[in-house]
Amino acid sequence: MPPPGGQTRRVRILVTAGPTREPIDPVRFLTNRSSGKMGYALAHAFQHAGHSVLLVSGPTDLDVPDHVDFIPVETAADMCDAVRHSIGRMDIAVFAAAVADYTVRDPAPEKIKKSSDPLTLELVKTTDILGSAREPFGFEGTLVGFAAETNDLEANARDKLTRKRCDLIIANDVSKPGIGFDSDRNEVLLVYPTHNEQVPETTKHDLAHRLAHAILTLHAERVGCEP
Ligand code: PMT
Repeated sequence: MPPPGGQTRRVRILVTAGPTREPIDPVRFLTNRSSGKMGYALAHAFQHAGHSVLLVSGPTDLDVPDHVDFIPVETAADMCDAVRHSIGRMDIAVFAAAVADYTVRDPAPEKIKKSSDPLTLELVKTTDILGSAREPFGFEGTLVGFAAETNDLEANARDKLTRKRCDLIIANDVSKPGIGFDSDRNEVLLVYPTHNEQVPETTKHDLAHRLAHAILTLHAERVGCEP
């Protein structure tokens, strides 16, 4: 949808979504339960509001929303490369992806046989893509992260807000049944530098429209223009 009447400035928005896959050997990988639904719903909501959206996504079963630019990725390293390459051109970046925190140090070039028991994999930390985004993004841009927590939701999210130099953290309690990973519904706490705002449980589709509005409003306040 084009910006209505040309009154709204078309904002360039990067959204990350989905899981990453970290190879163990040519047929096995480490991953997580992210379906991509939250990130894809956000990409759709920003596009529907008239903005230009680049979606960088790990493997999912979802259709890419219409009129959204798309970079498919597999591993955390691929996602990091795609984000680094594009973030300097963006006004807003929203990190909804569930990026693997660890990857296998030396994936086997051939399928691992069942000969060793136990089998030990050496895992090394991946790059924190969000945590290293501020420099290449610049300080004008509005940087939004998610926090997937199972305890101390607000405290952990507020720690991520500061450590990752974000303008907003969207925190979800992924231990609650029926919301979060691989669900059509979610409930979040918006953690801003100065205050919090609770968004009650709803569909990810509805939530994405509310989040898009909140993020665009925050960006407009930061750069001093109309949302
Ligand atoms: O995909 P769905 O099934 O719809 O589920 C949605 C969701 C639960 C995945 C989503 O709402 C969510 O919480 N996404 C963030 C998941 C996550 O990895 O959270 P975290 O608290 O571990 O990471 C904090 C932030 O750092 C996130 O913005 C994450 O994208 C980012 N990160 C983490 C690790 C890493 N190496 N690089 C990153 O950029």
